[in-house]
Amino acid sequence: MLYLLDTANLADIKRSYDLYPIAGVTTNPTIIAREKTDFLQRILEIRSIIGENAMLHVQALSKSADKIVSEAEYLNEKVGGNLYIKIPVIPQGIKAMKLLKEKGVKTTATAIFTPQQALMAAVAGAEFLAPYVNRLDNICADGISVVGEIVQLLQLYHLPAKVLAASFKSVEQVHKVSLYGSHAITASPEIIDALLQHPLTDASVDRFVKDWEEVYGVGKITK
Ligand code: E4P
Repeated sequence: MLYLLDTANLADIKRSYDLYPIAGVTTNPTIIAREKTDFLQRILEIRSIIGENAMLHVQALSKSADKIVSEAEYLNEKVGGNLYIKIPVIPQGIKAMKLLKEKGVKTTATAIFTPQQALMAAVAGAEFLAPYVNRLDNICADGISVVGEIVQLLQLYHLPAKVLAASFKSVEQVHKVSLYGSHAITASPEIIDALLQHPLTDASVDRFVKDWEEVYGVGKITK
C-alpha cells in the first residue's frame, strides 16, 4: 500500500512526512486554489519538501488534448522529479494520455467514477487510476465496489496501471479499498491521522508509562 497526501498545505505535508511512510503528494485545482498562492511556486515548494524521488501528482487544467499536453510538458520541465500529470477521463483527456505516453510523460487518470473509465485510461497508458470513492458514496453509488472492480479489470487484462483510490471521508472507506487491493490511497492529513487513532491504544500507552514510573521513576530506559 502506498500512502499519499491529498493536500498542498506545506505545514501539513512537513508534519505528515515526518511521522508517516508517505510515498508522495497529490493535488488538484481545488486543493491548490484553497492555498491562495502562486501555483508553480507552491508545487516547487512541495517538491523541495518531499524530494525528487517522491511521487508528485499535479493536475492539468485544460480540456483539449493539445493544451493538456502543453501543460504536462511545461510542468515536467519546471517541476521534474517523479512527476505524474493528473488528467480527467474525458475523451480529450484519454487522447492526451496516449500522446503523453508516447512522449514518456507519466500520467494519472483522475475524476474516475466508473470501472470502464478506468479501464480505458489504463489501456491508453495511464500509470495510476484515481477513482473518487466518497463522491461515489455521496450519490448512493458504491465507491468501494468501483475500486474493487477496477482492481479486478487490471488483473484480468494484465495491465500495469495501479489504482490510486481518492476522495475519502472515513477510515472505513480506506479500510475497504485496502481489502479490495487498491495499490495506493491519497487522503487528507486528517484522514491519514485517523487511520492510527484508537482510544484503547492511547489508554494502553498511558498505562505502560504509569506502571513503569511507579517502580522505576521517570525516564529511566536511556541513561
Ligand atoms: C484526488 O485525486 C482527488 O482530486 C481528491 O481526492 C478528491 O477528493 P474530494 O472528493 O475530497 O474533493
